Amino acid sequence: MKRKILVVCLGNICRSPLAQGIFEFYTSREEVFVDSAATSNYHQDASPDHRSIKIGLKHDIDIRSQRSRQIKAIDFTNFDEIYAVDQSIYQRLLELAPEKKLQNKVKMIDDRDVHDPYYGDENDFEAVFQQLDSCIQKLI
Ligand code: 4NP
Repeated sequence: MKRKILVVCLGNICRSPLAQGIFEFYTSREEVFVDSAATSNYHQDASPDHRSIKIGLKHDIDIRSQRSRQIKAIDFTNFDEIYAVDQSIYQRLLELAPEKKLQNKVKMIDDRDVHDPYYGDENDFEAVFQQLDSCIQKLI
């Protein structure tokens, strides 16, 4: 059966769009459906941050067609695995889960936080990419 994977960060413009692109890079559409979402509504319908787009393209991953969206209650039913990029997102997702048993789907994408690069520079985005690339290869 096709795995349905959702990656969640705060704005859905920096970390989770890259994670979605990396998952898609390593898997086929037949085996995995991947999406990403935000816990906030800060950037609804926005394109990924230009710095995430640039780092993705540097590694042959094109995330330009993605648009930010906020997570919805139905996502907890529709997806099999819901990955948080850091501990604060993880805790927020546990609160947002509409039923206690759906909390089981929520996991950390890595054993350490993928730090928010929004106020950082290109090196921070590269570090985010490298961390996501490594933990996602382990997950697939
Ligand atoms: P993301 O990064 O959660 O990786 O998309 C952020 C994007 C925007 C903001 C914070 C983090 N913001 O505060 O607008």
